[in-house]
Amino acid sequence: MTHPTPDAARDNAQPVIRLQSVQKSFALPSGEVFDAVQSLSLDIQQGDVFGLIGKSGAGKSTLLRLINLLERPDAGKVFVGGRDLTTLSRRELRDTRQNIGMIFQQFNLLQNATVFGNVAFPLKIHGHHSKAEIDARVRECLALVGLAEKIDTYPAQLSGGQKQRVAIARALASRPQVLLCDEPTSALDSETTRSLLETLRDINQKIGVTIVIVTHELSVVEVLCRNVAILEKGRLVEQFAVEDAPKAERKTALGREIDELVRRRERESRELRELREAGNGVATLRVAPDLNAQEPAHV
Ligand SMILES: Nc1ncnc2c1ncn2[C@@H]1O[C@H](COP(=O)(O)OP(=O)(O)O)[C@@H](O)[C@H]1O
Ligand SMILES: [Mg+2]
Repeated sequence: MTHPTPDAARDNAQPVIRLQSVQKSFALPSGEVFDAVQSLSLDIQQGDVFGLIGKSGAGKSTLLRLINLLERPDAGKVFVGGRDLTTLSRRELRDTRQNIGMIFQQFNLLQNATVFGNVAFPLKIHGHHSKAEIDARVRECLALVGLAEKIDTYPAQLSGGQKQRVAIARALASRPQVLLCDEPTSALDSETTRSLLETLRDINQKIGVTIVIVTHELSVVEVLCRNVAILEKGRLVEQFAVEDAPKAERKTALGREIDELVRRRERESRELRELREAGNGVATLRVAPDLNAQEPAHV
């Protein structure tokens, strides 16, 4: 038997999330049927930070909820970690969901539990962990989000950014491969948003968890995401790598806006670099004559 080459191994690598022709409709009170997600296929690779964007009502949240089967598709398959979630029993699904953490715009913390209680909650209900294991894991997760010192605090005493950090720690407690984020910064101011995005990027780099983030804020995509998919009326209309943005033409207005943001950032960092270099030159020119002037003319 021959060993696969690294290239072959990569080609054979399964994506951590694979949606195959998923479909989700809702019956409206009027009796009409509304197609929220229409025959949509999507692969997301292990370790990616993947943005789902689109206008309000485009089907982003529905699509995200299909990934952990909070919404069951009317048709199609949902693979996470190689398992088709649509074929699992309730019990198997409950176990498999430990592999998929989720955070929301409104944090959804337990108000009557401390930070410790919130992060420990998913470990306690799944029951396979000793008290010491839970304690260690909670502390580990709180350290990851920079909230170790808030362990005995109640949610009401925390800022919005801190609440979302607790929610992230809770979502990571069971060591999931995938973290789903539905508009996680929409309730936060821009300063807090920036720091939370840095934390998410840091977590992705440190523990390699795959992040799927729904957002309507293009700056979130530009700062955080490696890949992005654009949804319109329940369909995936465009998908690209954010770092490729300046090189390619886009089909959608949102795609072009992301391009423009990436171009602007590149321009700004180039200008900053040039300014810095020019600044150094000026400093050298200024310093040099002064030094010369201090030298005694006759030496
Ligand atoms: N449970 C539901 N019942 C009826 N309609 C729904 C339900 N969930 C979502 N929808 C409809 O599906 C469409 C897509 O919703 P959603 O996925 O929340 O969009 P987005 O997150 O992009 O704003 C919306 O028009 C919404 O009203
Ligand atoms: Mg939504």
